Amino acid sequence: MADATDDTLRIAVLIGSTRDGRFGPVVADWIAGHIAEREDMEADLIDLVDTPLPTVLPAFGRPPSDEVVSLLGAVTPRLAGADAFVIVTPEYNHSFPASLKNAIDWHNEQWHAKPVGFVSYGGIAGGLRAVEQLRVVLAELHAVTIRNTVSFHNYGEVFGADGKPSDPASDVAAKAMLDQLTWWGQALRTARQARPYAV
Ligand SMILES: Cc1cc2nc3c(=O)[nH]c(=O)nc-3n(C[C@H](O)[C@H](O)[C@H](O)COP(=O)(O)O)c2cc1C
Repeated sequence: MADATDDTLRIAVLIGSTRDGRFGPVVADWIAGHIAEREDMEADLIDLVDTPLPTVLPAFGRPPSDEVVSLLGAVTPRLAGADAFVIVTPEYNHSFPASLKNAIDWHNEQWHAKPVGFVSYGGIAGGLRAVEQLRVVLAELHAVTIRNTVSFHNYGEVFGADGKPSDPASDVAAKAMLDQLTWWGQALRTARQARPYAV
């Protein structure tokens, strides 16, 4: 990995699934590997199994309990410190997993004016229905979603025992998505520094 500089974008890579026996970490490790090879970004892998969040939100205007504060402390500062995000999501019933939505819903300004790229996987649709629904959710949170996605259709046939997709087109797709994420990440970081996003 290249040494981080002031220009280096911090990319929070969020593993959306928490299912026992899940495939998500394989996909996340692959895209994190792509990020590690680049000089313009570094990855912070956030695994919601290692850093679980409660599924009960606090009442409006009521501070969360000490226990909840402690659980959030393992995730929230990392989202806040990120310049951009990569969400790794499977498709559950034509949408994204509840675990991912829960992590999104616990946060708000941490998403503001930041770009989000997607790596999805699933059956014939490659998780793209989850991605398209995530775009709607993230627009509400003032995030900017990246046009190009990386999607693995019938992913079980795509990944080798080495945890890497066999088709080099996946690496090309990853580069295109990460290039766009860099453009938006740099542009929005500069903009946020010049004028804090408060609209
Ligand atoms: C609750 C549930 C619903 C699913 N629904 C879909 C679906 O709508 N479309 C699809 O392509 N795959 C669907 N699948 C298959 C998942 O894409 C596949 O199991 C994948 O491995 C899930 O990601 P994970 O292993 O990281 O949990 C579903 C799986 C589960 C557990």
